[in-house]
Amino acid sequence: MLIDKYSRRFNYLRLSITESCNFRCNYCLPNGPDCTTRKHELTLPEIRRVVTAFAMAGTKKVRITGGEPSLRKDLTEIIRTCKSVPGIEQVALTTNGYRLERDLDEWMEAGLDAVNVSADSLNEGTFQMITGDSRLPSILRGIDKAVERGLKSVKINAVLLRDYNASELPEFLEYLRDRNVALRFIELMQTGDNRAYYKRNHVSGQSVKEHLLDNGWQQTIRPITAGPAQEFSHPDYAGRMGLIMPYSKDFCDDCNRLRVSSRGQLFMCLFAEQHNDFRSYLQADNPEALIEHLQQVLQGKAESHYLHEEFTGSTRHLAMIGG
Ligand code: 5AD
Ligand code: SF4
Repeated sequence: MLIDKYSRRFNYLRLSITESCNFRCNYCLPNGPDCTTRKHELTLPEIRRVVTAFAMAGTKKVRITGGEPSLRKDLTEIIRTCKSVPGIEQVALTTNGYRLERDLDEWMEAGLDAVNVSADSLNEGTFQMITGDSRLPSILRGIDKAVERGLKSVKINAVLLRDYNASELPEFLEYLRDRNVALRFIELMQTGDNRAYYKRNHVSGQSVKEHLLDNGWQQTIRPITAGPAQEFSHPDYAGRMGLIMPYSKDFCDDCNRLRVSSRGQLFMCLFAEQHNDFRSYLQADNPEALIEHLQQVLQGKAESHYLHEEFTGSTRHLAMIGG
C-alpha cells in the first residue's frame, strides 16, 4: 500500500499521456501548447508498467488525462491496457470532448468506465471565447451519447470564471434538470502562467454553494474516499451539482491521488516544486523496484499545496499534468 507520513492512502492514479492540446483555454494554454513535447510521451509498454506497479501497490482506479488524451492515436489501446491490469477496477478519462461523439463506442468497448468532459460554458459564443474552439454542439452530443450508452459515470467540469461563466449558473442548472450527469464547478487555481488572469477571474465556490442551498439543493453525504468535490442534489433534477474548492480549508486532508506526467515523472501534488523522474524504471518489467522507489519518494509528499500563499510550485499550467 502507498501511504505517506500523514497516513494518507493512495489508491487513485492520474496518468497524463500527453501535454499537447488542441484547445486554447485562456486560463491554461492561451497560446497553445509547446510544440516540442510529444516525442517524450510514455509509450504503451511504459504505461502498462506504470499501471502494473501502481496496481500492485493498491491502486484501484486510473484516470487518463492530459493535455488532451484523445490527441494520442493509441488512446483506445491505452484504455484497454489500463483496464486489463489486474487490480484496476475503474478506468476513467478526462477529455475536452472533441472526439467523444466519434470515439465513445470504441473507448467503451475497450473498457472505459467513466468520463469527465470539460465544458466551461453551455453557450457557444462564451465557450469559444474561453477555449478558442467552436465544437461545443458536438461535445454536448457526445455527453448525451455517453449517458444514453449507459457509461457508469458522466461528469462535466466547468472552471468558475468571473468574466465568462459566473453568471451562467441558471443555464447549467437547467441543463441538469433531465440529464443524469454530475456537473462540477472548479475554482480557478493560480498557476505559474496565469497570475493576472487568476486575479481577475477567481471566484469562490462559496457563492455558488449558498445559491444552491437557498434553492432547495441539498448537500449529499459522501464517503471520505469519494474525492474532493462537495456534491448537491435536488428532487426536481436528474443531475447532480458539485463544487471543487481547492482553496478551502483542509482540502488536502483526504488526498488519495498521485499523478504521473506524460514524461514519466511522479508529481506528488498539482503544485509540487519537485517532480521525481522514474522513467529509468520503466524500461523493463520490474514492478517491485518501481514500487520500492515510489514508497521512498512518497515520504516527501507535503501536507498541503500552499496555494493560499500563492505558491504554485513549478506548475506553469495544468496541461502539464491534467488537473
Ligand atoms: N484552475 C482550475 N481548473 C483548471 N483546469 C485547467 N487549468 C485549470 C486551472 N488553472 C481544468 C480544466 C479541466 C481539468 C482537467 O482541469 O478545465 O476541466
Ligand atoms: Fe487543453 Fe484542458 Fe488546458 Fe483547455 S484546460 S487548454 S482543454 S489542457
